[in-house]
Amino acid sequence: MIKPHGSDALQPRFVYDTVKHEALSKEAESLPSLLLNSAAAANAVMLGAGYFNPLSGYMNLADALSVAKDLKTTSGLFWPVPIVNITKESGIQAGQRIALRDPNVEGHPVLAVMDVQAVETVTDEQLRDMAKDIFGNLDDGHPGVQTFLSLGNTMLSGPVDVLNFSYFQSEFPDTFRTAVEIRNEIAERGWNKVVAFQTRNPMHRAHEELCRMAHERLGTDGIVIHMLLGKLKKGDIPAPVRDACIRTMVENYFPKNTVMITGYGFDMLYAGPREAVLHAVFRQNMGASYLIVGRDHAGVGDYYGPFDAQTIFDEKVPAGALDIEIFRADNTAYSKKLDRVVMMREAPDHTKEDFIALSGTKVREMLGKGIAPPPEFSRPEVAKVLMAYYQSIDG
Ligand code: ADX
Repeated sequence: MIKPHGSDALQPRFVYDTVKHEALSKEAESLPSLLLNSAAAANAVMLGAGYFNPLSGYMNLADALSVAKDLKTTSGLFWPVPIVNITKESGIQAGQRIALRDPNVEGHPVLAVMDVQAVETVTDEQLRDMAKDIFGNLDDGHPGVQTFLSLGNTMLSGPVDVLNFSYFQSEFPDTFRTAVEIRNEIAERGWNKVVAFQTRNPMHRAHEELCRMAHERLGTDGIVIHMLLGKLKKGDIPAPVRDACIRTMVENYFPKNTVMITGYGFDMLYAGPREAVLHAVFRQNMGASYLIVGRDHAGVGDYYGPFDAQTIFDEKVPAGALDIEIFRADNTAYSKKLDRVVMMREAPDHTKEDFIALSGTKVREMLGKGIAPPPEFSRPEVAKVLMAYYQSIDG
């Protein structure tokens, strides 16, 4: 199986040793606490799960600036997005051990214990420079920029020992998986070469066909659907509904034992190309040899060019930096002529009128108006689940 990024074996930051886990939980009760913001909490979950291998914790300012600008840490590790704990809280000092509390779970239980190695001020100018590099713009209408610029001006760095996986394990017991668990399951199934599919959608026909095409053309042993279970922008479809849709689609339209349905606990950044590279890093960590990257991957609005998330792999990912490869999908649409979903570049005899464009945004718009998406957009079984959800929020 493909090796993790930056080390021979995964080094997840979750404390698997039960004796150590108990001791840390006890210690945490008497440590000074920091209530994390959702972004920093999501980073802790990803560090715990092994997805952010080989990082041991939150980056310091020099590393964060270097990653934002040059996609590598000061020690030369390839990394596409700063993994930071930026806070508005003051009063924490370098050298302290602190309990990181979870903002997303009632009662704010301890999520992780952190060794604070440095407490640095990050200026508004530095935040803006980083945001510009990560998101490609500084528009305050961009949800990722908005979140990043409002985190605070104090950056805490140092290693973390993670004690749980926030609300993901309890709310999505059948779907949330760590990178360690996915690697193990791939091995147990006797698979070697797998293709991963990133999604924050209920999987419409385009998504389904992309998985099928990648699997067949790459000759992989299986497909790992890896859905985002964290926070999204308003209007996106909630994770339990997406999960139900995906399960319905896979059950009805894929042969048994070709698909693993899994999810990860991270908030959507909407960083387009940079997020696509981060997606590739953590799919390599979970054991995928390929990641599907299609049109406007991890995008929002029209901030990014439709294929910027593919070209960044040519322009900003040095040869050998990653072992995972991307499967480049062209715009995928329904062909009225052929009566099936195709990549548009593969139907050169078609005119624009021969296609029905497929997009999650369009489906959400239809559902919002109470219109069931037609079979060219969504499988009827999936459309049923979606309609039930939209009717429930309407009433
Ligand atoms: S994402 O934010 O998670 O990327 P989404 O769930 O819509 O959003 O997309 C999952 C993957 O499918 C991405 O790689 C995206 O580029 C690809 N994709 C979605 N729709 C299309 C389409 N019509 N044509 C080509 N690729 C698509």
